[in-house]
Amino acid sequence: MTSTRLTTTIAVIGGTGKEGSGLAYRWARAGYDIIIGSRRKEKAEATAAELNSMLDKERVTGMENSDAAGAGDVIVLTVPFSAHRNTLETIHDEVQGKIFIDVTVPLRPPNVNVVQLPEEGSAAQITQELLGKDVLVVSAFQNVSATHLKDDEHEVDCDVLVTGDDEGAKKLTLKLIEAIGMRGIDAGPLANAAIAEGLTSVLIHINKQYRIKNSGIRITGID
Ligand SMILES: NC(=O)c1ccc[n+]([C@@H]2O[C@H](COP(=O)([O-])OP(=O)(O)OC[C@H]3O[C@@H](n4cnc5c(N)ncnc54)[C@H](OP(=O)(O)O)[C@@H]3O)[C@@H](O)[C@H]2O)c1
Repeated sequence: MTSTRLTTTIAVIGGTGKEGSGLAYRWARAGYDIIIGSRRKEKAEATAAELNSMLDKERVTGMENSDAAGAGDVIVLTVPFSAHRNTLETIHDEVQGKIFIDVTVPLRPPNVNVVQLPEEGSAAQITQELLGKDVLVVSAFQNVSATHLKDDEHEVDCDVLVTGDDEGAKKLTLKLIEAIGMRGIDAGPLANAAIAEGLTSVLIHINKQYRIKNSGIRITGID
């Protein structure tokens, strides 16, 4: 058990979706208190109820996004890139001083299997710019498919590249990754988030090419 366990409440903004609800489920199963955030409180509460019934425990609650961001210790953002900027604006004040894990991939439909990074460098760098220097932005999970996150029988076969400019925030993120049975890799400063974000389009292409749903990545050479 890590020192962060059972003392950290994780708020997942956009946690009603595929990736956010899957990560929320894994963290709740590992013992964390979770808040699901949504634009609509009722939708968040419905997802929370669904996860609690899967867990057979009351560990997940649902709130409107800005309330969730205010109540969480660690904030995780899982919304489509098209909703990224707007969502950040609605939670800006509530996340000041907190660790903020951005999962967003800057996909631009319909060509989601082509790398199309924003001119700022990456979604994570936009996040840091919009939220300001007092928010400890970390980028992670872009390469983890939602496909098996709610499947208890299935270990997630993917390393998690973690980038950020605050060493403490990265360390806590690495612990949160380990807590749900994955291996996190410190992949450097936030400027390197572009590579993890871009890799997702490569994985989407691989999924299509090989008719699979959950290709992932592994970093070799680390014992
Ligand atoms: N799915 C995957 O396998 C996967 C893997 C790695 C990374 N990611 C990344 O993780 C993020 C979330 O992916 P996802 O598949 O979970 O997305 P999703 O299910 O399509 O959407 C997640 C949530 O975002 C909110 N949302 C959707 N459209 C919105 C809009 N126009 N404005 C504001 N909020 C909106 C919705 O929440 P409410 O309606 O409740 O507000 C929705 O439930 C994306 O950036 C994606 O690229 C996904």
